[in-house]
Amino acid sequence: MLNKKTVDDINVKGKRVLVRCDFNVPLDNGKITDDTRIVASLPTIKKLIADGGRLILCSHLGRPKGNPVPEMSLAPVAVRLSELLGQEVVFAADDEVVGENAKKAAAALEDGQVMLLENTRYRAEETKNGEALSKELASLCDVYVNDAFGTAHRAHCSNVGVTEYVDTCVVGYLMKKEIDFLGNAIENPERPFVAILGGSKISGKLDVIDRLLDKVDTLLIGGAMTYTFVKAKGGKIGSSLCEDDYIDYALKMLKKAEDNGVKMLLPVDDVIADAFDNNANKKTADAGETPDGWIALDIGPKTAALYAEAVANAKTVVWNGPMGAFEMSNFADGTRAVAQALADTDAVTIIGGGDSAAAVNQMGFADKMSHISTGGGASLEFLEGKELPGVAAADDK
Ligand code: 3PG
Repeated sequence: MLNKKTVDDINVKGKRVLVRCDFNVPLDNGKITDDTRIVASLPTIKKLIADGGRLILCSHLGRPKGNPVPEMSLAPVAVRLSELLGQEVVFAADDEVVGENAKKAAAALEDGQVMLLENTRYRAEETKNGEALSKELASLCDVYVNDAFGTAHRAHCSNVGVTEYVDTCVVGYLMKKEIDFLGNAIENPERPFVAILGGSKISGKLDVIDRLLDKVDTLLIGGAMTYTFVKAKGGKIGSSLCEDDYIDYALKMLKKAEDNGVKMLLPVDDVIADAFDNNANKKTADAGETPDGWIALDIGPKTAALYAEAVANAKTVVWNGPMGAFEMSNFADGTRAVAQALADTDAVTIIGGGDSAAAVNQMGFADKMSHISTGGGASLEFLEGKELPGVAAADDK
């Protein structure tokens, strides 16, 4: 359990509260295409409004690299948030983030009112955790609340530096929920504990594979990272993605699974195609039998059934990374089958953020999962056992 002070441990009546959210949402021509992260921030915001705080919200959006890039303005978020809250969220348009406009708006706030600062990454110091911006942000508030789980693996001004200059720094409900779900699954899982790892590269998941092999009963592997394992075992992978530099690592992990008594399953069949194209010719092949000129793009039907069975028998399931190139509809069956299996099981099901969360949302299974993390990189680093700087910076209980 998270041992940090939360919004339940403070009194914010009449106080200016700086709330760091992760409003890094996808935008298409200024329109928010997925507001999950905004919705996820509502419980904390509503609680602080109800308690009479004067709320100054802040977040980054995209990577504007220290420049005021208009396409990455948080203005559309203020509009959406106003709709969701049913009250005005004043947007402090300010290229300096904490410039005259923002200071004036903050000073004018009354109890229960809300404003939003401009994208913190408009300032170059933000990602360098610089002193000046940290102090400026701190100068706006009496109390600081960090609810930005998606950014917790970064050490930036708005989630770490600022805490040096504010006396009371606590976490919000979303942060607590994320850490409690992921932490309980890893440290105190009801067994059998099954983890499913997919995605394209082993190299992005080295530490998480290693750590999960110390925790789980079963580890299911899918996605393009599979083919480095298959090649390591001497199978034929055609032109499937393979990281030759990680062949030894793959062998080491297979050995570790055996030594730890972990059932580590690789696909027994694949959907292969003659091009990386949704309209390519495709067929099913046994694992390790992908001919030259063909590329494996999804787990096959036998594998999907095998993995679904493992999930059905589980009590805790953590899933991070799709099973194939699910963004192409003809290669989405494996990912859909796994999502369906998670939707059908009574087990606690936790979806790491990023692509697997996107897949579950797109395929309409979101409300069937116990928890879908709002953080891609953050949930991965948490599963790797790393301390998240954004969490560490909050006051201990
Ligand atoms: C995310 O989307 O993973 C977080 O908002 C962090 O964004 P970043 O990778 O640009 O730091």
